[in-house]
Amino acid sequence: MKLTVNIAGIELKNPVMTASGTFGSGKDFLPYVDINKIGCVVVKGVANKEWLGNPPPRIVETYGGMINAVGLQNPGVDVFCREDIPFLRQFDTKIAVNLAGRTIDEYVEVAERLASEDVDLLELNISCPNVKEGGVAFGVNAAMAQKVTEAVKKVAKQPLIVKLSPNVTDISEIARAAEAGGADALSLINTLIGAKIDIHKRKFILSTKQGGLSGPAIKPVAVRMVYQVANAVDLPIIGMGGIMTGEDAIEFMMAGANAIAVGTANLLNPTATMDILDEMSIFMRNEGIENINDIVGIVE
Ligand SMILES: Cc1cc2nc3c(=O)[nH]c(=O)nc-3n(C[C@H](O)[C@H](O)[C@H](O)COP(=O)(O)O)c2cc1C
Repeated sequence: MKLTVNIAGIELKNPVMTASGTFGSGKDFLPYVDINKIGCVVVKGVANKEWLGNPPPRIVETYGGMINAVGLQNPGVDVFCREDIPFLRQFDTKIAVNLAGRTIDEYVEVAERLASEDVDLLELNISCPNVKEGGVAFGVNAAMAQKVTEAVKKVAKQPLIVKLSPNVTDISEIARAAEAGGADALSLINTLIGAKIDIHKRKFILSTKQGGLSGPAIKPVAVRMVYQVANAVDLPIIGMGGIMTGEDAIEFMMAGANAIAVGTANLLNPTATMDILDEMSIFMRNEGIENINDIVGIVE
């Protein structure tokens, strides 16, 4: 059975990746997960300098998922390079670094710093609020999405994945803009903006009022968007959003994803990545699928 997939020239031993921000750099998962078995570890967002994140409360559960407002807390790219790259390089897996920034210059700085580092892929998170444009995310405007992609692509030494926000009217338009800007692959979806109210206190639960909704609740939206984007661009696609089982993962691949990422599921079940990989193999065996790439985009 062939499980290897290719994302922008990087061969992954299987299509299972981690979704940024839900697996750290894997250290906390060592007792549960054999990192050698993961196709690619996508680390949490890394910025040019340390970001403290938002004040608590910043996570709340909801039906079929959770809303988070962690605010991309991270120690900055220097600490990441010193501590996390050597840690991950002990394992036989690919490394993708998720880039965070509040201005184009900040994103460029992180990509430049990583140019000489031993990582395999970069993932540009364009859902970050753009402080120069009044806090509106880069990913909700096609022109901005293209501009930031072009700027990062210019300095990037690794293939560049652009991670799309679902909080838009037409995700195909943003996908095409990222492709025009030079993206080597696309990943989707990031979280959907949501909110939850404590009706006794008559207050929003999260300190930021709203946050990012993730988990099974968003899966149908994600599957629809992966299908739309797969039909709009000619780039490899990494699908995510509420994947809890191997069958969910297969659904994303049939919609057009070349690989998939496991996010919120890691927080509920630390062995989720391993379980999902096993379940995908069982599905393939039962259905007589020899090569996982044969099912990509086969939905009719
Ligand atoms: C706690 C938490 C932190 C996240 N941090 C990041 C991040 O740093 N960068 C990013 O691009 N996406 C981040 N995400 C979004 C996920 O990578 C993923 O796109 C989203 O949660 C949808 O997948 P899921 O439903 O499987 O979790 C985060 C999600 C959660 C739940």
